Amino acid sequence: MQHLINLTDLSAQDIHALFDRAEALAAERSPAPSLAGRHIANLFFEPSTRTRVSFELAARSLGGSVVNLNMQNSSFTKGETLLDTYKTLRAMGIDAFVVRTGQTGVIQDLGRAMGRDVAVFNAGEGDAAHPTQGLLDALTIRQHKGDFASLSVAIVGDVSHSRVARSSLRALSILGCQDLRIIAPATWQPPAQQMPQVVITDNLEQGIQGCDVVMTLRIQNERLRNSEQLDRHEYVANFCITAERLECAKADAIVMHPGPINRGIEITDEVADGPQSVILKQVNNGVAIRRALFDTVARTRGWYTE
Ligand code: NCD
Repeated sequence: MQHLINLTDLSAQDIHALFDRAEALAAERSPAPSLAGRHIANLFFEPSTRTRVSFELAARSLGGSVVNLNMQNSSFTKGETLLDTYKTLRAMGIDAFVVRTGQTGVIQDLGRAMGRDVAVFNAGEGDAAHPTQGLLDALTIRQHKGDFASLSVAIVGDVSHSRVARSSLRALSILGCQDLRIIAPATWQPPAQQMPQVVITDNLEQGIQGCDVVMTLRIQNERLRNSEQLDRHEYVANFCITAERLECAKADAIVMHPGPINRGIEITDEVADGPQSVILKQVNNGVAIRRALFDTVARTRGWYTE
């Protein structure tokens, strides 16, 4: 593993190995400094709290140094091309780029342009992919539910604009999950041919019947076109995860949300803070999975040998 740009590059075995590594690293007090002497640049063209901070904490915990660039304030806005920005940073000694962007395809191009020189990590790309979020979601599910093959997982809300939904569904299908469901208002359903293995419905109570995992999503206001706007009251009335609706899922179902949460719209306080919620465990696993990823890439690239 030289980069992490897309989950399609990974097998179930690769993903389980990352999960095992994440758990082993989490149990270690002073892990091997596999990023010692390495410089990581966080390049975020879109806002982030969880993802940026967890990449940073993960890199620091393995001995790496981190620079955070707010791309709204960089020379990029003076007309410099993106590739020139990357080459400039590379010339200063950056070894890895962690990139979040609204534009699909940019991270792939960067990985290709950088080749073996620099590691590239996708930290969220338009509505297309958010591979580390997909991994941390699947790790959280493995910890609570074990075997993927027998699980029923429902993803609820603004699925069509959600890179999280795409990457989580991708991770779960690579891991062998057979029963994947999308519950969304018609406007926010992805085209069925895009996800042929997934059952799509607009009925929440029916959709979450017997589910082991209920994952709800943030409404991606910044990606909605005018024709895709929905009445919030109507959304809450039909799709907000309430304690009463959650009773349709299995009694021991877990509830997930990638954050940031719009409380009272996507999920009620009672459920978000209730005993079935694993939302903070997801955040915690975000650091663990990014550590495992950095550690694996550092060893693959020969940055660190024991
Ligand atoms: C998500 C993102 O930015 O893609 N947040 C995250 O990384 N935890 C989800 C979102 O913004 O809705």
